[in-house]
Amino acid sequence: MRINTLLLACGLSASFQGVHAEANTEKTIATIWDDFKNAVDCGGCQALLGTLKVASGLGEKFWLDVFTGLCTITGIEDPDVCSGIIAAEGPSLYAALKTMHLNSGTSKTLCASLLGLCPYPEVRPYDLTFPSPKPKTVRPPPSGKSPIKVVHFSDTHVDLLYETGSNYECNKPICCRAYEDKDAPGVTEHPCGPYGNPQCDPPARLQESMHAAIAQINPEFSIYTGDVISHDVWMVDQAKVLEGLNATYSAIDRDIGTVYASIGNHDTAPLNLFPPTNASKDDDPEWAYQALAEDWFSLTGVPSVQDADQYGSYSAVHPGSNLRIISYNSVFYYIYNFLMYGEPIEQDPRGQFEWLIQELQAAEDAGQRAWLIAHIPSGVPDHFRDHSQYFDQIVQRYEATIAGLFYGHTHTDEFQIAYSDYNNRDWNTATAMGYIAPAMTPTEGSASFRVYDIDPVTFGVLDYTQYIANISDPSYQVKPEWVPYYSAKADYGSKISPPVTDPKAEITPAFWHNVTVAMERDPSVFQDFWSRRVRGHEVEECDGDCAKSEICQLRAANAQYNCVKPKAFNFKRDGEESVLVEKDPHVNCDHAGMATIIAKMMHRAKIDRKKEIEAR
Ligand SMILES: *[C@@H]1O[C@H](CO)[C@@H](O)[C@H](O)[C@H]1NC(C)=O
Ligand SMILES: *[C@@H]1O[C@H](CO)[C@@H](O)[C@H](O)[C@H]1NC(C)=O
Ligand SMILES: *[C@@H]1O[C@H](CO)[C@@H](O)[C@H](O)[C@H]1NC(C)=O
Ligand SMILES: *[C@@H]1O[C@H](CO)[C@@H](O)[C@H](O)[C@H]1NC(C)=O
Repeated sequence: MRINTLLLACGLSASFQGVHAEANTEKTIATIWDDFKNAVDCGGCQALLGTLKVASGLGEKFWLDVFTGLCTITGIEDPDVCSGIIAAEGPSLYAALKTMHLNSGTSKTLCASLLGLCPYPEVRPYDLTFPSPKPKTVRPPPSGKSPIKVVHFSDTHVDLLYETGSNYECNKPICCRAYEDKDAPGVTEHPCGPYGNPQCDPPARLQESMHAAIAQINPEFSIYTGDVISHDVWMVDQAKVLEGLNATYSAIDRDIGTVYASIGNHDTAPLNLFPPTNASKDDDPEWAYQALAEDWFSLTGVPSVQDADQYGSYSAVHPGSNLRIISYNSVFYYIYNFLMYGEPIEQDPRGQFEWLIQELQAAEDAGQRAWLIAHIPSGVPDHFRDHSQYFDQIVQRYEATIAGLFYGHTHTDEFQIAYSDYNNRDWNTATAMGYIAPAMTPTEGSASFRVYDIDPVTFGVLDYTQYIANISDPSYQVKPEWVPYYSAKADYGSKISPPVTDPKAEITPAFWHNVTVAMERDPSVFQDFWSRRVRGHEVEECDGDCAKSEICQLRAANAQYNCVKPKAFNFKRDGEESVLVEKDPHVNCDHAGMATIIAKMMHRAKIDRKKEIEAR
């Protein structure tokens, strides 16, 4: 009965009749699907986890079959995408559920972050200890010397199987590949150009074009905030990651000078999964850490970069300078790192916070300035709130030493401000600046890189210019032209009160706080930001409460203050008032692997439930 209802609701009875699953599997699938439909609140989400937990008692293979069956029957992804993603990431979610306690902080965190059905639990207190008390020193003033140029690029995601002329309107998470005959060049009516398409990860050709533009800038050095590998997450394995890392890093090595890089959530297989302790050796992607350590060493020649072979982090003093660049693995703190959902969630995975403190203390003791570079920004909704708060303790302690923090991951052009007092977020409590650079992959706006003007003594940021290659420009598919898009001082500094346009002034945390104040005062300043965020590509409407919430997000390097409520699937109990397509612009659901599958299942279940209620 239940199965029939499910199949009819999904319009998939025909396809399912070919599946000769064991009765047991069918029954479990039906029960789980009912739980998905009934999960309208935190209790419902816990009930769903309870059923998944009971199913996990029947063994890993059974559990993976059930999940794969559910994904395939509901038709939320093609069968090969379902089975590929679940085979890769499923075992870690299975293991987490097996040990998870219902109604625990861990299970509520899972319901909050994956399904938006529980409120986020309160941050669990964890006081980091510091080797010395915070000194009275403050950020040094700019030296007045002429700036050096530093390039920042991110999220390249080159698709080595990109095929010019193949279909860009496919059913898979990324297109521009001849998955089936109908997608082939010469057959499809939607051919991809040679330099990329918004529905696809880019060809290596686009990366080469960007490298040439960067080489023309002739930076002192560059930073790259990770995500080398393409989004075909259902097919990516260790060999493909190694091939991708080698392809991208050898191209960077060949085309650009010194580059300091950090690890992205796609730079391993299965994606996102980094075990927090040495205990889970089987899951430890030592092979990825080692490959990155070698690649990164050849990009910098700094021996300490090789420490990345431990867990993807290193600290390097840029030769001949007073700048310590600390690249840390922020993917430990990613809510889709299922290996983190232990009982309880570990507070300092691999002791990385302790290590950061050591490195920053060393910088402080040596009178150096420090840059922190990482993939996932600390304030975004997909960063664990607990770890964001712990990290913020470190930022606050070393604010005078930290000249800037640099991130990628969101594919969008954003920033985040840290404050000494989040209940009083003002220009004079703003303590640190997180710069979030947009992606090269053109899936959320045209391909982009950024050029900072950096004080050669303090390493403070004096300005930056964002460059884009406009994918809508008629000449783009012939030869992308990389042109300045906007600049921080000219386009924001001129709008704040009092204006800051002096080329010698630093764009400090206070400067950026004042930019957010200008956004509140003058909606056109916010709209400019909102459009630049996606380089003018499919700009969604955002004013009133949406704008307020976005400004709040900019003022939250500490994620618990980002004003983003778990809401993606928070439907009203009886479905009448439910809004079925509620897209959270911050949660890039299309490429997150297993998490996307679960989110899509939940969405599908809600549509079914609504139909059932209407049919009564
Ligand atoms: C890495 O890439 C370079 C450049 O494409 C190639 O010459 C080399 O053989 C590759 N190495 C491996 C181990 O695949
Ligand atoms: C993890 O491994 C490293 C390097 O082998 C070692 O120094 C550290 O003590 C280990 N940590 C734990 C918690 O076992
Ligand atoms: C990109 O090019 C299109 C087509 O020429 C134009 O309409 C659009 O304004 C350009 N976008 C940007 C950000 O320059
Ligand atoms: C920010 O605005 C305040 C209040 O208008 C002003 O006193 C302060 O100098 C500004 N700071 C910067 C860096 O623009």
